Amino acid sequence: MIVSGAASQTLAAHVARELGEPLASVEYDRFPDGELLAAAPGLVDGDAKRAVIVAATTSSDAHVELLQLQDAARQAGVDEVVTVLPYMGYGRQDDAFDAGQPISARAVARAISTGTDRVVTVTPHEEAVCDFFEPPATVVDAAHRLAEPLPADLTEPVFLAPDAGAIDLAETVHSTYGTGETDYFEKTRHSGTNVEITPSDVDVADRDVVIVDDIIATGSTMSEAVGVLERRGAGRVFVTCVHPLLARNAYSKLSRAGVDAIYGTDTIEGPASAVSVAPAIANHL
Ligand code: R5P
Repeated sequence: MIVSGAASQTLAAHVARELGEPLASVEYDRFPDGELLAAAPGLVDGDAKRAVIVAATTSSDAHVELLQLQDAARQAGVDEVVTVLPYMGYGRQDDAFDAGQPISARAVARAISTGTDRVVTVTPHEEAVCDFFEPPATVVDAAHRLAEPLPADLTEPVFLAPDAGAIDLAETVHSTYGTGETDYFEKTRHSGTNVEITPSDVDVADRDVVIVDDIIATGSTMSEAVGVLERRGAGRVFVTCVHPLLARNAYSKLSRAGVDAIYGTDTIEGPASAVSVAPAIANHL
């Protein structure tokens, strides 16, 4: 049976349809003191042999809820628990960047590992985070779907990575789209919301630009890049990413910066979820 975390209900239902497996009934409750109680009575009623828990860990609550659903699955007596992390929260803190810091990705991976036989995650910030899990962890690549929502009539498009780390993603979207060129900017991050973009000398005048990244969080990276492109007379500017986290005022920040459209997948469900990763996840199950 497919078991959904509260933040991944649409995606979990889609995965269930793709696999032809039932979607378990799940209840998300909260005690008066704020503690969570996620339960999956459907696993018991349905006499499930395998529980596939689909849960984007976009918040600390979502992490706790996932641990509870894993435990509920064991309690229901299933033979196998598979944990699908469409988006792995805390994945970007994959190192101790300053003295005294935790490797948060390792900490959450250890906790998740205790309740699962297998992990499937979608385009993590760094694939190396898979090594933090104890059971086998595999990566679903979602980048090949990002070209689908783009208009078919892009003018001499440039597929632009806002930093060097996103070049492979931009190249994948470029080759899937089938025409144009790939380029990248350099990024220096000063704080969570303060980033500095050093542009390349790519000629974007009157050309449509698609900026490609793995995550849009505060939208600072994208809006800085959009600002450069606007000043250089680019044509239409689209932004696309695998994980449209769009925290705080990211959506309006990007709209005000002059973005024509924001596209993402449903690893994080929201207004930018233009394509689904459900078929790709189902292929790994
Ligand atoms: C970091 O290197 C990631 O690839 C993204 O560029 C980053 O998470 C985007 O964050 P924000 O939208 O807050 O600039």
